[in-house]
Amino acid sequence: MEEQIKAVLQTVKYPGYSRDIVSFGLVKEITAANGAVSITLQLTNATPEVAAQLKAEVDRAVRGLPGVQRTHIDVRNTAAPAGGAAFNQNKVPGIQRIVAIASGKGGVGKSTASVNIACGLRHLGARVGLLDCDIYGPSIPLMMGISERPAITANEKLAPLMNYGVHLMSMGFLIEGDAPVIWRGPMIVKTIQQFFFSVDWPELDYLLVDLPPGTGDAQLTLCQTVPLDGGVIITTPQEASLGVVRKGVGMFQKLNVPILGIVENMSYFTAPGGERIEIFGHGGGAEEAKRQDVPFLGEVPLFTEIREGGDKGIPVVISGPDRPAGAAFIKVAAALRERLG
Ligand SMILES: Nc1ncnc2c1ncn2[C@@H]1O[C@H](COP(=O)(O)OP(=O)(O)O)[C@@H](O)[C@H]1O
Ligand SMILES: [Mg+2]
Repeated sequence: MEEQIKAVLQTVKYPGYSRDIVSFGLVKEITAANGAVSITLQLTNATPEVAAQLKAEVDRAVRGLPGVQRTHIDVRNTAAPAGGAAFNQNKVPGIQRIVAIASGKGGVGKSTASVNIACGLRHLGARVGLLDCDIYGPSIPLMMGISERPAITANEKLAPLMNYGVHLMSMGFLIEGDAPVIWRGPMIVKTIQQFFFSVDWPELDYLLVDLPPGTGDAQLTLCQTVPLDGGVIITTPQEASLGVVRKGVGMFQKLNVPILGIVENMSYFTAPGGERIEIFGHGGGAEEAKRQDVPFLGEVPLFTEIREGGDKGIPVVISGPDRPAGAAFIKVAAALRERLG
């Protein structure tokens, strides 16, 4: 009977997502006896509407099974309020703040920003980790100039790598060369969970998480796995005007994750003569932030140096913290630190 119930629960999707609640690991307990079924769901940070909807859908699905007369659906919803100080059963030991870096779309410089903001926070004296949750397209190893196989610690955890004083974990450290990662959804959920609880993270002030592009299942998995202190949305001026920021804001709101702010990347280009050229228009990020009523954390210009730094594995914050490109990211890092209190 439990197997049948589990199978029917696999048809219940998390509201707004393509994945079912079983593969998300939200079904904690199923018991059935004499026509009575009892189910426990463990949610993290779900809105009351989502919790109520899931309860109703689970109830309906289970009642549709032959032989079921009574149901008891227990929905536990662990809250992780803004500021992240509150108790949460899944809090990662030793990590003060976990911040997701997201964008509604790929190619806007999310990984570049993650790397440089991490190095910027380190530059400001913080203890920083960077977790690459872009399972299909990990770019942190290349951008941080390190790719080795992580060691296994005495307590059988993965030891994070480190470069430029930043502690790192990425799928790129674990796969062979360019081997494509073709994984089914549940494996992504497991991997993201293991990235937190099977990695031997040291004491950190900040753990930044580079998310895959979009607003999909990895984002939800992350929010269900650990209490997030907030999310940062990276955009380019033209994407901002196309509603991409709104999608990112909507995603974080739906998952009850506080939005720490928006960063406008590839904001403008400075010609050799010092002239400012606004290729994509400018200020879209700041305007969109205002419209969405979320903070604006700063803008980062288009610089060849930034791309080269990424390709060479030496972030501009490391190679030139006092030059405009490096300084722009350090300013964003300082704004983020201030927002986090
Ligand atoms: N401010 C910038 N100036 C110049 N090149 C940039 C800038 N930001 C990102 N890039 C380049 O744009 C490309 C895409 O950036 P990336 O960080 O990989 O985007 P995402 O992670 O959003 O897909 C990379 O080649 C990167 O070096
Ligand atoms: Mg990326």
